[in-house]
Amino acid sequence: DESTSEKLTELAKRRGYFFQSSGAYGGVGGFYTFGPQGAALKGNVEDDWRERFAVAEGNMEIDAPTIMPEPVFEASGHLDGFDDMLVECPECGESHRADHVVEDETEYEDAESLPIPEVEEVIAEYELVCPNCGAGLAGQAVEAFNLMFATNIGPGDSQPGYLRPETAQGIFVEFPRLKEYARNQLPFGVTQIGRAYRNEISPRRSIIRTREFTQAELEYFIDPEADEPDLSGVEDVEVTLYPANEQQAEDGAEIETTIGEAVDEGVITSPWVAYFLGVAKPWYDAVGVDMDRFRFRQHLSGERAHYASDCWDAESEIDGNWIEMAGFAHRGDYDLSKHGDHSGDRFTIFKQYDEPKTVERATVDPDMSYLGPEFGGDAQTVVQKLEDLAARDRSAFDGDAVAVDLEGETNEIPVEKTGFAVEEQTEAGEHITPHVIEPSFGVDRLVYTVLHHAYREDEVDGEERTYLELEPEVAPTFVGVFPLQSDDDLETEAQEIAADLREAGLSVTYDDSGNIGRRYRRQDEVGTPFCVTVDYESVDDQAVTVRERDTTAQKRLPIDDLPETLSALRAG
Ligand code: GAP
Repeated sequence: DESTSEKLTELAKRRGYFFQSSGAYGGVGGFYTFGPQGAALKGNVEDDWRERFAVAEGNMEIDAPTIMPEPVFEASGHLDGFDDMLVECPECGESHRADHVVEDETEYEDAESLPIPEVEEVIAEYELVCPNCGAGLAGQAVEAFNLMFATNIGPGDSQPGYLRPETAQGIFVEFPRLKEYARNQLPFGVTQIGRAYRNEISPRRSIIRTREFTQAELEYFIDPEADEPDLSGVEDVEVTLYPANEQQAEDGAEIETTIGEAVDEGVITSPWVAYFLGVAKPWYDAVGVDMDRFRFRQHLSGERAHYASDCWDAESEIDGNWIEMAGFAHRGDYDLSKHGDHSGDRFTIFKQYDEPKTVERATVDPDMSYLGPEFGGDAQTVVQKLEDLAARDRSAFDGDAVAVDLEGETNEIPVEKTGFAVEEQTEAGEHITPHVIEPSFGVDRLVYTVLHHAYREDEVDGEERTYLELEPEVAPTFVGVFPLQSDDDLETEAQEIAADLREAGLSVTYDDSGNIGRRYRRQDEVGTPFCVTVDYESVDDQAVTVRERDTTAQKRLPIDDLPETLSALRAG
């Protein structure tokens, strides 16, 4: 039998949700175009996300470029660490993710965290074969393959750039300016909805793993010493949790609990992460994810990204497999510290004390022009780096030399030349590096889940029917308007109704082709919650038939009431 995913992929193409792009040229793996319905559904989901995670939370939204220069990714760790394991088939030449080959065919569940030589050993030991042609992979070298798309900025190759692999970096690099907009007050949050690019080795399962996709990310900056979330609004939210303990691999390790209890019992260790899980769960419910096929899963330690100290994924179940829709990571001070170290800018925030304090302060000589060009960079940058280092980590000055990263190189500066000293000072406050909590949503995977969980088949008047039970709030088309038959009066009346409903802000499709049953089926497959049919009586009694998608129940309503009644139904 065809799986729901297979049927959905076919429906998505036929009804304008999504399809492989550049089809006229044979298509290329990992790129999809959202058709008219898909683009509208995706837009509605993004608007809802913005409403909940930016507007309702009082966060700022930005829109940064998708191409960024190389130093950004040297600092962020993506240039060195954003790799997947690649193994190439010696027969057919197809590349595969080595960890997926291992996970699909052995009992290893977290092959991504294994070192490359061990993966090669497992491939040889289990005599694993190419998923495409069946040739043996034993003895093939496994390589680290960087997932970033590289490009050149301007002519020539003097300024390499990369398509961002996450929207997050567009927020982190602007921190020195964003903190000003937040009036240097923690906590504050910055959101961004935009494209991210990853040159996935094996894009698969339609829009679930693609090479260009949309993320909706929130970077929430906190003072780790002082800021606590207010859990009162989310503590009663019921959640299914799958924590990363030794039982996780066994059945039945899921826990049904509430956000409040999970924090009290230490299942979720960061109250901030718990807060955002508590905000996300009802939001996912509202946009149409089936809560019986939804859970939060904590990452195993080997699975976490290079920047994360803890991470929980929001997962949905699709044809018996769990897929990751979003990650809620505690990124600590990783990103801001790295950008502070690599750039000349300050990625800290000045935190005022309640009362001035007498403190021991490590200082360096503010004039280091005598250091000379052999240390690279200008003297002011060297001073700033040393000042930051002295403030952050005094022990760096314990030895004879102190290491400073400048223009991509590590320089050893003799400590005696830095003028390093510890003095007592009266301070009004201190520069701290905020910590970051990051809810990171994949929009494409969410759109896929919403469609998959809405997919229904039933029988109406003895005929099989397929429909999408989409939430009215996100349905791309809210109402179909049809004249019952090809007739000038009916068509004029129907066009007028369509125009009035559009004016009321509803998304309307007008359809006068084919018999009325066919038109209903078409809108059922699109997931249109309501259809309005204008018949011969309508012209006399100024009433129409309104049909509801899920029940197919029909009701007669006055034309004048339609905009108000239907708008109320959309608002829910
Ligand atoms: N800034 C954090 C970050 O990028 P991630 O877990 O790598 O974290 C976040 O990505 C979300 O982006 C994932 O949960 C997933 O929904 C989506 N995503 C990641 N790679 C994807 C891909 N190749 N295709 C579609 N969506 C993807």
